[in-house]
Amino acid sequence: MFLFESVCKRSLVFFYFSLKEVVPLTETFYTLPGAPRLAVLGDFHNGDPLPILRSLEKQKPDIIAIPGDLVYGSPPDHGLMTEQQKNVLPLLRGAAGIAPVFFSPGNHESILCREDWDAISSCGVQILDNRWVRHGNIWLGGLTSHYVLNHRAYMLSHPSCERYIRRRYSDESWVPIREPDLSWLEPLPEGYTVLLCHHPEYYPLLPRLNLIVSAHAHGGQIRLFGRGLFAPGQGWFPKYTCGIHDGRFIISRGLTNTTWVPRLFNPPEIVYIFPES
Ligand SMILES: [Fe+2]
Repeated sequence: MFLFESVCKRSLVFFYFSLKEVVPLTETFYTLPGAPRLAVLGDFHNGDPLPILRSLEKQKPDIIAIPGDLVYGSPPDHGLMTEQQKNVLPLLRGAAGIAPVFFSPGNHESILCREDWDAISSCGVQILDNRWVRHGNIWLGGLTSHYVLNHRAYMLSHPSCERYIRRRYSDESWVPIREPDLSWLEPLPEGYTVLLCHHPEYYPLLPRLNLIVSAHAHGGQIRLFGRGLFAPGQGWFPKYTCGIHDGRFIISRGLTNTTWVPRLFNPPEIVYIFPES
């Protein structure tokens, strides 16, 4: 009996880790009229940079867009210089050697401090922190996660608090920021506009843009009958978890898994958007 239970337990553990870690990275391609050759790296979460860099070298995009969640962990975990985030800078350095890289902060980036942002910039990455930048005839913007805005505002009003604070803010009177800052988006720049927007649930708030790339939903974690089961910020049976919506809103299922729940029928992906020929 003991032997039987032990074998069952080991099989379950093996099955679990097989599902959680061994599902290979897939490449998903979209073609859109007027689009640049764009790679989208969503929800890296300090994953494995090697298959991503291999794919980028093969597909040769002209632009690499990172719509948030490079890092993994929540306050008071530690910044980019620690073991927990050891793959982030190698990914950025490798990607920047292949094509210009643009990065917009996601919710997990609320753990980063000034030195971490400087380290990201030093890899040759353009940080799109609620702003537009021009790249050739393309305009790229990045809509920063409201978690980052909230964390920054808290730190400004509480200058004596430690470098990394807990997400459950200690000041009972604190009213958290729960909305993104949309004020910089309009008037829209003239030309082809690409917005990096980590949270897909922001989509109904956005003006009409040529292309919006998003992440965060991890494909709904478990996909059944073509729908994701759960996504942060959207809850159960979320509307925006992956694929293309309205011909201009593309959501990446993400590059890795971060929870104990396996990704079922939902492999991680690197998204490529190429111009229609
Ligand atoms: Fe996220």
